[in-house]
Amino acid sequence: MKILITGGAGFIGSHVVRLFVSKYPDYQILNLDALTYAGNLENLRDVENAPNYRFIKGDIADQSFIDQLFAHEEPDAVIHLAAESHVDRSITDPMSFVKTNVIGTVNLLNAARNLWHPGGYDGHVFYHVSTDEVYGSLDFGPEMFTEETSYDPRSPYSASKASSDHFVRAWHHTYGLPIKLSNCSNNYGPNHFPEKLIPLAIHRLRTGQPVPVYGKGENVRDWLFVKDHATAIDAVFHKGKNGDTYNIGGVNEWQNLKLIELLCDVVDQKTSQEQGTSRKLIKFVTDRAGHDMRYAIDSSKIMNELGWKPSVTFEQGLAQTVDWYLANEEWLNSVTSGAYQDYNQKQYAGR
Ligand code: NAD
Ligand code: DAU
Repeated sequence: MKILITGGAGFIGSHVVRLFVSKYPDYQILNLDALTYAGNLENLRDVENAPNYRFIKGDIADQSFIDQLFAHEEPDAVIHLAAESHVDRSITDPMSFVKTNVIGTVNLLNAARNLWHPGGYDGHVFYHVSTDEVYGSLDFGPEMFTEETSYDPRSPYSASKASSDHFVRAWHHTYGLPIKLSNCSNNYGPNHFPEKLIPLAIHRLRTGQPVPVYGKGENVRDWLFVKDHATAIDAVFHKGKNGDTYNIGGVNEWQNLKLIELLCDVVDQKTSQEQGTSRKLIKFVTDRAGHDMRYAIDSSKIMNELGWKPSVTFEQGLAQTVDWYLANEEWLNSVTSGAYQDYNQKQYAGR
């Protein structure tokens, strides 16, 4: 089987690529990625020479490139993760989210349908990796997002992901394209770009800079270790039902301020600083516009039907994450300086 994984050089995509390349030596894994600021082939150094792995640089928003790629490579399945993924960037530059997340997804759907339909859809699957943010925002009650929760996206990012989810389901209902979808909560772990809360906080604590807490820090997120998201994607891809959606979460809700305080304590412990040192760097700043208050995911469907469950506790995952960032200073320095962009341009100029 030849699987096209989009966004494989990004945070979650690189963990999915690594899992599939190592677990399924008989599969050919094609990693299609535009190498935007968030894409980094350093994330995949350990698998880049594997015989069942190949990297292709390209933009999913470029229709003719995508059509040619599908005609040339003839993938049997698609696992689609490529996206603009940061809510704050979607507030300042919404159009790039429309281009990649909406138009890019429709380009892939069209190309998959055109390639697969003439011979029948048997054995093919288009899997869209999506977010819990499409469901909107919860209050502090007991309610959780289920697969039946109505869509209510509230940021340009979540609106673009909701739109792409709708297009994926429309291709299933209208053209019979075999699809699977999953909507996951906040991931954390190694290789997370340091614009997102947890890696940003670790980077700032490491370099003695203030850690910005939006508003009062009351907002709640449900955190899942990225390697557990990758195993959930494996389960949905292989065992999920055609046309179905699976919610994925960590049953691990944290208020932002409490999470940052915990992170400060872990960093103090790991760097042998006096407890309380890092907490002094917490700084309350102006809130994010339209900031969703709470996300909470009911994962019972994927747990009961597909037998998936997280493999690590939050304490274990967070400790591994802090260890990884402290041990990979060079990675952090390169992605937080211009060197990251320069590397990608030099490495792939003209290809
Ligand atoms: P990321 O920003 O770390 O990586 C995105 C990848 O997509 C990068 O490698 C980037 O180069 C690539 N990309 C961007 N635009 C592209 C384009 N036009 N053509 C080809 N490649 C392009 O994102 P992530 O956090 O790894 O998220 C991956 C997917 O999972 C996204 O679809 C996101 O919506 C979804 N998701 C993320 C989370 C999370 O907590 N990070 C949670 C649930 C779902
Ligand atoms: O829920 C899944 C989503 O989780 C994914 O679909 C997105 O791709 C991913 O980026 C993430 O979105 P969030 O907006 O929840 O993640 P972020 O790390 O940007 O912020 C987490 C929380 O922390 C949120 O309530 C905003 C707050 N925050 C964030 C930053 C960057 C701060 O208080 N300070 C910060 O500096």
